[in-house]
Amino acid sequence: MSDYLIAPSILAANFARLGDEVDAVLEAGADMVHFDVMDNHYVPNLTVGPMVCQALRDHGVTAPIDVHLMVQPVDTLIQMFAAAGATYITFHPDASHHVRRSIELIRDLGCKPGLVFNPAESLGALEYTLDDIDMVLLMSVNPGFGGQAFIPSTLDKLKAARALIDDSGRDVRLEIDGGVGVENIADVAAAGADTFVAGSAIFKTGDYRKVVDQMRANLATVSRP
Ligand code: DX5
Ligand code: ZN
Repeated sequence: MSDYLIAPSILAANFARLGDEVDAVLEAGADMVHFDVMDNHYVPNLTVGPMVCQALRDHGVTAPIDVHLMVQPVDTLIQMFAAAGATYITFHPDASHHVRRSIELIRDLGCKPGLVFNPAESLGALEYTLDDIDMVLLMSVNPGFGGQAFIPSTLDKLKAARALIDDSGRDVRLEIDGGVGVENIADVAAAGADTFVAGSAIFKTGDYRKVVDQMRANLATVSRP
């Protein structure tokens, strides 16, 4: 697996100068913008909505925008984020009454659908959805806040998700979100992840390029069957 993607989470960026922050992190070599949407209902925090996604597009951001919906319900915001320039739209299956309908809605609107699994949640929802999604996102922290510690049991869960994806024969990205940094990114990749969200590990440092380069160097040491 060579196409590792690094997706900085804007949750840890300076929101007072978000466009510049996103420009800087992409300039530093990041691949994709991870856009955390929280509603103070599904999770106990509140962030940004489709207007801010549109503002990044209007600012000139052409990189993929990976919208992670931590909201309930999901369908109205799916429509709004698709119109606002999202590339991926992922949601938590427990936040939608009709998971496949929400997946199909994302697809029909021209975006790439994905499902997100909280740390304590099994991967059962993949059994009847893996044929129609483009991303599986495993939370390695409880959603709602940046800067939390990586939950180690997520490594076994990554292996399980990787096996399901490989068995499916489909091109589905396996993304990890929470507590990922230079020190553990190789272990996370060895367990099967190919797409790495990192908020604090990148934005809370002074040199984004140095962190992204070090992440890629550490990823280059990983060998997987
Ligand atoms: C948490 C968010 C994450 C968060 C990760 O609910 O989904 O994307 O920004 O932050 P770090 O990388 O700081 O753990
Ligand atoms: Zn996220």
